[in-house]
Amino acid sequence: MDRFREKTCIVTGGARGIGAAIATRLGTEGCTVAIFDIDEQAGKYRQRELEKNDIKAVFYKVDVASEEMVRQAVEDFYAKHGRIDILVNNAGIGFSGKSIEEQTLEEWRRIIDTNLTGTWLCTKHVVTYMKKTGGVIINIASTRAFQSEPNTEPYSASKGGIIALSHALAVSLAKYHIRVISISPGWVDTSHWQVPPRQPQLTPLDHEWHPAGRVGKPEDIAALVAFLASDDAQWMTGTNITIDGGVTTKMFYPDLDQIQKLLAKLLQDEETAQTLIKLAEKLHTNKDILREIRNKYLSTS
Ligand SMILES: NC(=O)c1ccc[n+]([C@@H]2O[C@H](COP(=O)([O-])OP(=O)(O)OC[C@H]3O[C@@H](n4cnc5c(N)ncnc54)[C@H](O)[C@@H]3O)[C@@H](O)[C@H]2O)c1
Repeated sequence: MDRFREKTCIVTGGARGIGAAIATRLGTEGCTVAIFDIDEQAGKYRQRELEKNDIKAVFYKVDVASEEMVRQAVEDFYAKHGRIDILVNNAGIGFSGKSIEEQTLEEWRRIIDTNLTGTWLCTKHVVTYMKKTGGVIINIASTRAFQSEPNTEPYSASKGGIIALSHALAVSLAKYHIRVISISPGWVDTSHWQVPPRQPQLTPLDHEWHPAGRVGKPEDIAALVAFLASDDAQWMTGTNITIDGGVTTKMFYPDLDQIQKLLAKLLQDEETAQTLIKLAEKLHTNKDILREIRNKYLSTS
């Protein structure tokens, strides 16, 4: 396919991970690619990899939270190519997981600045040029905008903010023929797209948990980005697309069939099987443990 011939795109955080797969997919379909990334070594590596595949690519060392760096890089890319058709705001950082009392203002600001303010800043500077031709802005949020593990407030808040920012922009920029869409991926294993590439550390259980039967790949997200950036998605703007192998629509009622299947998978691992067998033996020989568990954890009153 050649959907993006004569077009240009900027992919933030495109040096590795999901962003690298997006840059590769858009480039393979004919787009000239600019990667904005803070990691210079990975950025140069990715530019070489793209060029090996006959993709026109340029790397800019940019911290998306720095207005000056963003402004200069956008200006330079536009000066060289005369148009910016697609912006993918993908650069993002996670959070290591501390309680709200332990989280520092500095950590909060670093995550909000990179994930949310970075998306706003890149959009602000790209729109100056994109409104001359029209275009598409795709913002990478997360299913964590809608559901959480404990102690992830800065990350979840930044991703919820991206979804709200995206629909606000879609309404403001429609008059310039600029569409704005957010994507919320679930769990995506990026090992193959790291610099250097890594081996995935996934277990059969990780895959089994997904109704679609596997953890996501960066290529899954890249394929969706390519569709949304293409004219096939002309009637789509302001919306959020979840892409997560079905995990967020799955009910969490105890499901005996599912538990049995999970146990069967677990028992394929020799060490885990031994632990479970020992536990079962202990419970069988010492009924007091069972009574204790029942009283302590299963009491309904
Ligand atoms: N991997 C997942 O399971 C998953 C799930 C949902 C959403 N996401 C989102 O997808 C995006 C990509 O995630 P990933 O897993 O590929 O991460 P990654 O760490 O593999 O890649 C992130 C890239 O962003 C760059 N980056 C970080 N801070 C930057 C900054 N200040 N300025 C410019 N570049 C910066 C990094 O150098 C790196 O190249 C993120 O926004 C992440 O929140 C990931």
